[in-house]
Amino acid sequence: MLKTIAALFLLFVVTGAQPSCKDARGACLYWPTNDCMGGWADKEDAERQCNGGNHFRCCMACDTQCMENQEEWSVDDEPCEDALGICQNSTNFCNGKYEDGLCGGPGERKCCDTKKEGDCPLVEYEPTDAVMGYDDVEIRVHPDFADSLDAVGDAARDCDVVVKVVFSFRKRRFIKNRNPKTDPPKYSNFHVGHAVHVFLDTVDGICFGTCIAAAEKPGASCFTNRLTKLGLNWGGKELPFNIDDGFNSDVTAWKKLLRELKDVC
Ligand SMILES: *[C@@H]1O[C@H](CO)[C@@H](O)[C@H](O)[C@H]1NC(C)=O
Repeated sequence: MLKTIAALFLLFVVTGAQPSCKDARGACLYWPTNDCMGGWADKEDAERQCNGGNHFRCCMACDTQCMENQEEWSVDDEPCEDALGICQNSTNFCNGKYEDGLCGGPGERKCCDTKKEGDCPLVEYEPTDAVMGYDDVEIRVHPDFADSLDAVGDAARDCDVVVKVVFSFRKRRFIKNRNPKTDPPKYSNFHVGHAVHVFLDTVDGICFGTCIAAAEKPGASCFTNRLTKLGLNWGGKELPFNIDDGFNSDVTAWKKLLRELKDVC
């Protein structure tokens, strides 16, 4: 008994007056920049204290079981990876925000989404007499596609129609069982600001997708012919009526742009 007390006392002296992270088989690391698989000990945890200031915290060792868990859980990380985030123990620092439900494993394993506001390259397209948001909806597109919309406006004027935009840029969401009929395609131009979903206001009333494709109202076929001449896609798979510039035909460029937008838009 005495020996134990003496040993404890010695330990106490050697390790610097308090039980340390090392005693708990952890490592004191700089919290903001290290990803700790075993999880970080709570700051209040008296048994796992670290010297070196506020940001040095005790990273718990990731043992065999912990490694196996990581492997098993990461199988279901696809939603988070698709959103270009990382799945980690939510005791880790995340330079962004944690989102629930996108990672495999227990609830405290979360998707760190590093999206930041304020630096998004997309622009709000200034409505014109020929291209405007339906019900004043904001038209949000990539600057390259904004130039295409100027040309679409010229075509609309020449054909005596007004283009009403119902929606434009749409943030990409992970869809588990994609329905090709109702869900946007995987590499949708809407996700990169290179498409608009529209209908036409003609001299003879409103003309939606099938009406435009069948040229049932004045100006419709004039308009679609002009789109074709401009090298723009219309109608197509993303029904009922979309206009895009085919940006997604280069999947590598599409992925690159998505990555750029994802962090900031
Ligand atoms: C996350 O870290 C905490 C603190 O170390 C730990 O208790 C917990 O088991 C870890 N959770 C997962 C899912 O790894």
